[in-house]
Amino acid sequence: MQQKACILLILWLPFSFSISKQTINNSTIALPGCPTKCGNVSVPYPFGIGLDAGCSIGPWYDINCSKSFNPPKPFLSRTNGEIIDISETKIRVKSNGIAYRCYNQTGGITRKFPTLYGIDETSPFSFSNENKFIVVGCDDVSFMTKVATGNLISSCAAICSQSSDLSDGSCSGIGCCQNSIPKGVKNYITSLRSYGNHTNVSSFNRCGYSFLGEQGRYRFHPSDVSDSNFEHRFVETVPMVFDWVIGNQTCAEAQKSSLFACQENSICVDSDTGLGGYHCNCSKGYKGNPYLRPGCQG
Ligand SMILES: *[C@@H]1O[C@H](CO)[C@@H](O)[C@H](O)[C@H]1NC(C)=O
Ligand SMILES: *[C@@H]1O[C@H](CO)[C@@H](O)[C@H](O)[C@H]1NC(C)=O
Ligand SMILES: *[C@@H]1O[C@H](CO)[C@@H](O)[C@H](O)[C@H]1NC(C)=O
Ligand SMILES: *[C@@H]1O[C@H](CO)[C@@H](O)[C@H](O)[C@H]1NC(C)=O
Ligand SMILES: *[C@@H]1O[C@H](CO)[C@@H](O)[C@H](O)[C@H]1NC(C)=O
Ligand SMILES: *[C@@H]1O[C@H](CO)[C@@H](O)[C@H](O)[C@H]1NC(C)=O
Ligand SMILES: *[C@@H]1O[C@H](CO)[C@@H](O)[C@H](O)[C@H]1NC(C)=O
Ligand SMILES: *[C@@H]1O[C@H](CO)[C@@H](O)[C@H](O)[C@H]1NC(C)=O
Ligand SMILES: *[C@@H]1O[C@H](CO)[C@@H](O)[C@H](O)[C@H]1NC(C)=O
Repeated sequence: MQQKACILLILWLPFSFSISKQTINNSTIALPGCPTKCGNVSVPYPFGIGLDAGCSIGPWYDINCSKSFNPPKPFLSRTNGEIIDISETKIRVKSNGIAYRCYNQTGGITRKFPTLYGIDETSPFSFSNENKFIVVGCDDVSFMTKVATGNLISSCAAICSQSSDLSDGSCSGIGCCQNSIPKGVKNYITSLRSYGNHTNVSSFNRCGYSFLGEQGRYRFHPSDVSDSNFEHRFVETVPMVFDWVIGNQTCAEAQKSSLFACQENSICVDSDTGLGGYHCNCSKGYKGNPYLRPGCQG
């Protein structure tokens, strides 16, 4: 019970909604008649549970609440990511996977897997710069590039010569490397390369890995470079963060439209992703869900 309350608090802290209102009055979370939760995940409007159920602001914000799981699990219905939580400007989703490239003693490739990940260009989602591009291995360099243009988004090199070089929790180039990504990325492909095909490190490190993951959620352990189950363990523990916005117009453009999403006593905030779109925020001294009629309350 204690733990549940704590999780709820963490989940709702970034919101301007008050916690007491949230528990007694659903109208500060979802549209009237719409569920507020899928499993243990709160789904605040403009998101809504159900496909074309009239509970969200538009199809991109529909949440597919799959009852095949117990407790049920929420998915972004159009991009298929499993949602971990939704905050004022971000959605945390389960990782789409990890790229790897594994070698035998003589440097032959034994297995490999690239990641190609795209969010629809017309969607209101993009990868947040709260993610880091991470590479794990001792003879690996990885490149993250845009699918359409091949332009470089980020790169990182993880090198070591013996397992005693590695230290727990340190991800600064020796066995583990992390780098920033810019805001506004909608798709990427990662590729892994190696200087010596792991021939000098094959006694303790056969594979190189690269992935995008929420900053601070991956902690490097020296044993990771030799863990043959790394890719599976990782997917369960390191989520990705999306930025979400309303539409692709600026506040100034959207304010002229009858579909303008910000209700009474709220202000419109332009997105900083460089892709257009906006958020609504309760005006100072007001609380509630700025997307729901009648707006924020004093
Ligand atoms: C919920 O809050 C809204 C706005 O503050 C109010 O109009 C409505 O009466 C409340 N409903 C309940 C059940 O308390
Ligand atoms: C709030 O929503 C939940 C389902 O999400 C429902 O069980 C509950 O009755 C609702 N409460 C009010 C006051 O509408
Ligand atoms: C939901 O439940 C799962 C499993 O019970 C747990 O791992 C997860 O952290 C919970 N999420 C939230 C947002 O409480
Ligand atoms: C909802 O998600 C589940 C689990 O991923 C999937 O099997 C189902 O097809 C989805 N339904 C729709 C309508 O997208
Ligand atoms: C390593 O892989 C290469 C290419 O697949 C293969 O020709 C070679 O026999 C393998 N070596 C060992 C020791 O398995
Ligand atoms: C592998 O080790 C040999 C001998 O120490 C060294 O000459 C060579 O440069 C190393 N290769 C790589 C790719 O590190
Ligand atoms: C690594 O493997 C590639 C392709 O299998 C090969 O072209 C290259 O010469 C190898 N490099 C080393 C240092 O073994
Ligand atoms: C903005 O969104 C509308 C509706 O989805 C679409 O028709 C239009 O092409 C988009 N504009 C840009 C610049 O992406
Ligand atoms: C809304 O306002 C609060 C308080 O000023 C601020 O912390 C938050 O970042 C704002 N949210 C958005 C989406 O601008």
